[in-house]
Amino acid sequence: MLQSFFVLPGQYEDLARDEVISISKIYDPKTSSSSESRLVILKSKVSWKKIASRATFVRNSGNIVDTFDDISKIDPPIPKPVSFVCRTINLSSRKLSPSLLERQAGQVLKNRWGSKVSLSNPHLTVYLIITDSEQYIGYADVKIEPKLPIKAIKHPHELDLKLSRCIVNLSQLKEGKTLCDPFCGTGTILLQAESMGMKSIGIDFDPLMCDITRKNLAANGFKSKVINSGYNEIQNLKGTIDAIVTDLPYGIASRASVSPKKLIKDFVSILPKRKKLVIVYKKGLDVEEMNKAKKYEIYRHKSLTRVIAVR
Ligand SMILES: C[S@@+](CC[C@H](N)C(=O)[O-])C[C@H]1O[C@@H](n2cnc3c(N)ncnc32)[C@H](O)[C@@H]1O
Repeated sequence: MLQSFFVLPGQYEDLARDEVISISKIYDPKTSSSSESRLVILKSKVSWKKIASRATFVRNSGNIVDTFDDISKIDPPIPKPVSFVCRTINLSSRKLSPSLLERQAGQVLKNRWGSKVSLSNPHLTVYLIITDSEQYIGYADVKIEPKLPIKAIKHPHELDLKLSRCIVNLSQLKEGKTLCDPFCGTGTILLQAESMGMKSIGIDFDPLMCDITRKNLAANGFKSKVINSGYNEIQNLKGTIDAIVTDLPYGIASRASVSPKKLIKDFVSILPKRKKLVIVYKKGLDVEEMNKAKKYEIYRHKSLTRVIAVR
């Protein structure tokens, strides 16, 4: 079984860890994981490249192949590269000299492999990942960055592209499955879903928002369906959708007369119980229907902390 590693950014650690694990579980439900500090290690049938191409919050990733105590004795089972570079990722509380460790590892591997060290354009990067409890050796032959869609028309109330991608991933949909965003606004969630190969359907009761969403989809050559209607329209789509991922209104919209909290309650109560649900709402608007959901808090500014709830 392959072991892969993912080094996460310092921000949103829980969310970032669960995003990586969720993506792996889409394709291999038997994925097992361990994590320490900002390092996640997965045992999974899914290649790290597949996971990294979907994940939003990953800094470095690759295969993990060995651990070491003594840098002068490393002999990792890595296919001999034409050229390579060593990089240290120190996630431990120890102070160490990354460049010294990299030079030492570089010399040992150069002698073993007879390969060139190339700092600027290596065929392979060997990672020395140091945590408080272990020292790992990993490698990657390429740096994978997810391809984010273009947002042609922006709006002050939009959800940012990265967070949107992350919540789509938490819904654990495979390519070809259908996601519905019944409060689609400018279509950020739909854009991310379609960019990862899912079908998506957006609903918004504001015709202006539907128009913006259509233009944003068209700018990417995407074909998601957009319906100008209240969220109740979702009841007519139940048979066709596999997950609901949405960012609910934060205040009373000009066309809505109900409070945001009542809106969330009413909305959740009409949803099919067995469909995966990921909702974003303003902290303080929690409803008991989502008590058992896994929740993450995202601080934005002093009057807005978002909650992401996954059920
Ligand atoms: C927080 S915004 C969504 C922003 C969106 N995630 C984006 O990135 O642009 C909520 C959206 O819900 C829509 N909305 C409010 N009440 C609605 C209702 N009852 N039915 C459908 N849409 C509604 C608003 O028009 C608004 O576009």
